[in-house]
Amino acid sequence: MRIYLIGYMGSGKSTLGRQLSQRLGISFLDMDHYIEQRYFRSVADIFREEGEMSFRVKEQACLREIAELENVVVATGGGAPCFFDNMEVMNRSGCCIFLDVPAEELASRLRSSQTVRPLISRKPEEELPVFIGEMLRERLPYYSQARYRVSSGNIAVNDLIQTLEHHEC
Ligand code: S3P
Repeated sequence: MRIYLIGYMGSGKSTLGRQLSQRLGISFLDMDHYIEQRYFRSVADIFREEGEMSFRVKEQACLREIAELENVVVATGGGAPCFFDNMEVMNRSGCCIFLDVPAEELASRLRSSQTVRPLISRKPEEELPVFIGEMLRERLPYYSQARYRVSSGNIAVNDLIQTLEHHEC
């Protein structure tokens, strides 16, 4: 079993992914963390020193490795589904669940988050909701290719369990 949680930054992929893996009794893997371990640098440093495209190439390479692992819940990076054939790789190798959280809620979570996120770190707080809304619209065609979608401003691990119980994965 291989489950990929996809969705925008702040949608709860890591938190829910960890909880889901515990409930299912399988491993949890955070893709950004995997990239950082693999290249001995933080995501923020890769963005700053080499630019976004270099990060995306590393992300793609790591996804291909992760797609070989067994019995794992993967919290993907928010942009991972939107580059190269990553969405196809994930759909072929596992079961994708799109965590569909409204832009306003994402903005409020990201405002209070401690994690450094290069794509939004220089955005003034008041511009965040509109910026996120626009980016979400651009990313939706990719996120929508997930087999399942859970939409709510307050997704709980039980919502994911229910989704999986009612469908083949
Ligand atoms: C990104 C999301 C981040 C990280 C990088 C780029 C994105 O992961 O991969 O900063 O393009 O949305 P999280 O979604 O875990 O914050």
